Amino acid sequence: MPKFFVTTPIYYINDKPHVGHAYCTIAADVLARYYRQLGYEVLFSVGVDENAQKTVEAAAKSGAKSIQQYSTTMANIWQKTWDDLGISYDAFIRTTSPAHIQAVNNFIEAVTQRGDIYMGEYEGLYCVGCEEFKRPEELVDGKCLVHNRQSETVKEQNYFFRLSKYQTQLTDYIKANPGFIQPESRRNEVLAFIERGLEDISVSRSGKDWGISWPNDPSQVVYVWFDALINYLTAVGYPGKDYAKTWPADVHIVGKDITKFHCVMWPAMLLSAGVELPRMVFGHGFFTIDGTKISKSLGNAIDPIELTSTFGRDALRYYLLSEIPFGADGNFSHERFESVYISDLANDLGNAVSRTLAMISKYFDGNLAEVSGTLGDEVLYHEAMKNLRFEKALDEVWKIIKGVNQYIDAQKPWVLAKSDIKQLELVLGRVVADLRQVAKLLMPLLPDTSAKMTLALGAHKINNTVGILFPRINEKLE
Ligand code: MSP
Repeated sequence: MPKFFVTTPIYYINDKPHVGHAYCTIAADVLARYYRQLGYEVLFSVGVDENAQKTVEAAAKSGAKSIQQYSTTMANIWQKTWDDLGISYDAFIRTTSPAHIQAVNNFIEAVTQRGDIYMGEYEGLYCVGCEEFKRPEELVDGKCLVHNRQSETVKEQNYFFRLSKYQTQLTDYIKANPGFIQPESRRNEVLAFIERGLEDISVSRSGKDWGISWPNDPSQVVYVWFDALINYLTAVGYPGKDYAKTWPADVHIVGKDITKFHCVMWPAMLLSAGVELPRMVFGHGFFTIDGTKISKSLGNAIDPIELTSTFGRDALRYYLLSEIPFGADGNFSHERFESVYISDLANDLGNAVSRTLAMISKYFDGNLAEVSGTLGDEVLYHEAMKNLRFEKALDEVWKIIKGVNQYIDAQKPWVLAKSDIKQLELVLGRVVADLRQVAKLLMPLLPDTSAKMTLALGAHKINNTVGILFPRINEKLE
């Protein structure tokens, strides 16, 4: 069976999930479901990034008994959110888990043996918000522009990773593999960044008591990004001997803010450890809410579950996937959310299904002869799905739905009912066949809707495997 491995970033637990995090996770879920439907053996991993400095701060503020206890509470909140959103993840990685700590230790050993780790003195600025060392030119009055918070001056003995050593190899790899960084705009940004020159990076912090201890040196903890990236290997059982059966990842889906970590630091780490590189890193865009940046202090860091309370989970998926071309920046507008729900989901799709079912029941008592559909070229849909252009895939499905509505309007079944019952049966049979195809194509994108349609249109069972066999509509539902 072919394999497919897709990942989301592992999110920081200093706060609850907001709709921006859900966006990335929903996109990965679409891919996981799509490849399962095609018959692939899929591994879809998600998780939480616990070993950050900001976990320590948030735990102290929360009044939790311990950082560990805070971490567990928050990890459960994140996992429950994905469960409530119907995210079909296979692995939920916690970076405080023994399996991950083991993977990090082995990985560091491999990189050390390669001669890529050395002890040096780090002097510079660290932004806890970004969990990143900053160059002075990236700060204004010592503050990072994203978090508007004062960076810390750090002067300490740290372990360094020879990132600079991989400059040429990385550039060559990215140039030789155009599909590695997607979309192309991100690829160009990353190439330009590398070409400005890579410096070795500090990959440990001293004097911290939260984090993974540096192997054989408990005075240092592993820098949180160095630890976090390795979660993708933890998910496949690294360093166990079978990890390469699932590795490399087919797609790391990440936001554009963290593309650099995934396209520079991570591949260099893998090259050093002698582990294959992921096949693709897709850096999606960021969206604002009603024109404003998502931020807790502005009060618009909306809980994704809240957004599903009125119209359901698929309404949120549909809006996020259709409204913001995947890869580009966009805006979440409450007004548009509602109007898109009414026009596309309720009117176009809802109407097509409900009037068809009503007519079958009215004119044929629920029994129709099986015929094949009229519409539906799936080639463009599959091309869009494979390229993560979810908005285009939805567009293809909506062409079929709109075609169904136009076909019904043109054939006027309510007239045929009086004049030509045989023709009416044929017309409705075709519509049903088209709507079954719609249900199949929507399965990865709008799983709840697809399942409901499949049931209503007369399928015996709903499953996620390839070739959902829609039985004849005149067989009674079980
Ligand atoms: N812990 C790191 C990732 C480590 S992966 C090895 C991290 N975590 S995070 O909690 O800050 O999550 C960042 C991710 O959340 C972004 O990359 C992006 O996927 C998502 N988003 C956060 N805000 C978003 C928007 N406003 N819009 C779209 N995506 C957003 O970085």
